[in-house]
Amino acid sequence: MEIVKTVCQLRQAIKAWRAEGLTIAFVPTMGNLHAGHLKLVEEAQTKADRVIVSIFVNPTQFAPGEDFETYPRTEQDDYQKLRLINTDLLFQPTVAEMYAAHAKTVVSISGLSEFHCGASRPGHFNGVATVVCKLFNMVQPDLALFGLKDFQQLAIIRTMVRDLNIPIEIIGIETIREASGLAMSSRNGYLSAVEKSKAPLLYQSLCRAKEAILANEMPYLKIEQQALTFLAQAGFQPDYFSICSADDLTTAKAQDTELVLLAAAKLGKTRLIDNLIFSRH
Ligand code: PAJ
Repeated sequence: MEIVKTVCQLRQAIKAWRAEGLTIAFVPTMGNLHAGHLKLVEEAQTKADRVIVSIFVNPTQFAPGEDFETYPRTEQDDYQKLRLINTDLLFQPTVAEMYAAHAKTVVSISGLSEFHCGASRPGHFNGVATVVCKLFNMVQPDLALFGLKDFQQLAIIRTMVRDLNIPIEIIGIETIREASGLAMSSRNGYLSAVEKSKAPLLYQSLCRAKEAILANEMPYLKIEQQALTFLAQAGFQPDYFSICSADDLTTAKAQDTELVLLAAAKLGKTRLIDNLIFSRH
């Protein structure tokens, strides 16, 4: 696996592949790689001749007081995992390589960036959209893969690609979970043993809500309230639990058939998110 740290080196490697007529898939990450990230890489390998992974803990998507400084950085472990599955190239820029000192441009997707996670993490999705847009311009892949785990993030990236005519196919990959149902996440490492044993209840709350919706048990608002109460009683500090249209993430209407349940809750100091996508006919 080739490891490059500058945009110039990255472009040289890509130019050589393009000269051979090879297709390129791209998987952006912030490192501390787990089975969810590796699934994206493995899927990418089935769809393109070469796979580029980036590791960059992006400061602009962390609000002041969030975990930018303490975010797990596990470089050697990550290299080993990527090598084991035959990743072709790792792009690992520094902050100075990624951002010009007086950068003035921000990519902002209005509306979609402001609710759900955007409401409790102001500026977060501007940071995500800007860095992903920059990475897309640096790598210029044929396709890029993202996890459905970060459903709102994926919706924002799809919207950005559509609105800015970025010629990259965006592919969403299913959430990889622990045997307990807990969605894999780099932030799970912050959980204490007791918290880790409670954390799967977030996914359980989504599954229970799905059953209630499919059984037509009660109005959506009541299902949301019950889920919030369930999480609070289990020791979470729930942020939101929303039954949404999977198309645009707005509050689901009775006639909507493609639904996504979005949830975020803190367990101690750790913020967890998860979602469940399903059809209702
Ligand atoms: P990060 O949290 O490292 O996630 C990188 C990619 O892995 C994202 O597309 C995310 O949705 C996906 N992913 C995370 N956990 C997953 C799981 N359990 N199953 C499947 N896929 C999973 O998301 C980011 O980084 C950043 O915001 C980034 C897009 C790199 C921009 O900085």
